[in-house]
Amino acid sequence: MADNHERRAERAVVLGLETSCDETAAAVVVREPDGRGRILSNVVRTQWEQHRPYGGVVPEIAARAHVECLDILTAEAMQEAGVGFGDLDAVAATAGPGLIGGLIVGLITGKAIALAHRLPFIAVHHLEAHALTVGLTEGLCPPYLLLLVSGGHTQLIIVRGVGRYERLGTTIDDALGEAFDKTAKLLGLGFPGGPAVEQAARGGKAERFNLPRPMIGREEPHFSFAGLKTAVRRTAERIAPLSEEDVADIAAAFEEAVVASVTDRCARAMDIAVERLGQDAPRHLVVAGGVAANEHLRTALRELSGERGYAFHAPPLDLCTDNAAMIAWAGAERLALGLSDGLDAPVRPRWPLDANAPPAIGAGVKA
Ligand code: KG4
Ligand code: ZN
Repeated sequence: MADNHERRAERAVVLGLETSCDETAAAVVVREPDGRGRILSNVVRTQWEQHRPYGGVVPEIAARAHVECLDILTAEAMQEAGVGFGDLDAVAATAGPGLIGGLIVGLITGKAIALAHRLPFIAVHHLEAHALTVGLTEGLCPPYLLLLVSGGHTQLIIVRGVGRYERLGTTIDDALGEAFDKTAKLLGLGFPGGPAVEQAARGGKAERFNLPRPMIGREEPHFSFAGLKTAVRRTAERIAPLSEEDVADIAAAFEEAVVASVTDRCARAMDIAVERLGQDAPRHLVVAGGVAANEHLRTALRELSGERGYAFHAPPLDLCTDNAAMIAWAGAERLALGLSDGLDAPVRPRWPLDANAPPAIGAGVKA
């Protein structure tokens, strides 16, 4: 829908706010008339310390923590960028999907700034922001195939343009980041689990345990990680108490199974993308979301891309995990198409990126 609009050839400076999960973030980004982007500031404060005692994100604690620091971070981002509110062309804030309390904090703050300074306001889809980040970092234009792997989402999407997404696959149970976090908890590793599992796996012998490689060979490029998680739990229980070596070996076997499953699913999605976009369309695989920080996964996907004639793109680590530069950038891209939202724009805790995607078969499907 959105990409049919004519692009505006104007420079735009946009303030972005992100509060959908456990990172509070504010950033200022500029979009040049030729479509290139530049980050003027990018301030992120993580709430990991507050959530660590509970081994996961507690929504009420998250919302309070956003309230306490969003105004301070916004002031920091503006100062670092060297701009005043009068220099802004728009304000963008995450409207969803995510935890409702945090979303309300960010959206209301963004609307208040827009209202006070008579600026256009853009209610941003968090996953669209992850999806468009390569436009900011590398100037890559759609179409491309996107693997989005975060704490809440695991999806394969054809990005056809701003606002035009075709979901090919999703998880039928846990998100990949969630599987990393739960595995870390089972193994007594820290929170957040992804980096802890990756660290532990470094010295481990993956071949010691034969864990399932979910969904490999299935026609549709969907994902499933619940069975793998159960297998990790059973393995850990069988050989308990766990030595440091045992933990490293299980972590390595888990990571290996994940990488095998995800690369197989991506290979299938590449075939479908060629069918849908045509043989002659450019071939780009983009990874985004927190789990895209995983080095083992990146290496495997880079290799797969090389074998299939795809160019591989992964944003720098600090732009893979949640940040506000991507929110500001998604706002700037929408603004360039003449799109903005009213101050009555609602928060949308559940908000599918591709509203036409059929549900995946299985229980507990995530949008
Ligand atoms: O995109 P993100 O910052 O937040 C959202 O969920 O939106 O992703 C966070 C997720 C967490 O589950 C975290 O454990 C995972 O990304 N993660 C990793 C790594 N770094 C972060 N998973 C595997 N390996 C990593 N190095
Ligand atoms: Zn995210």
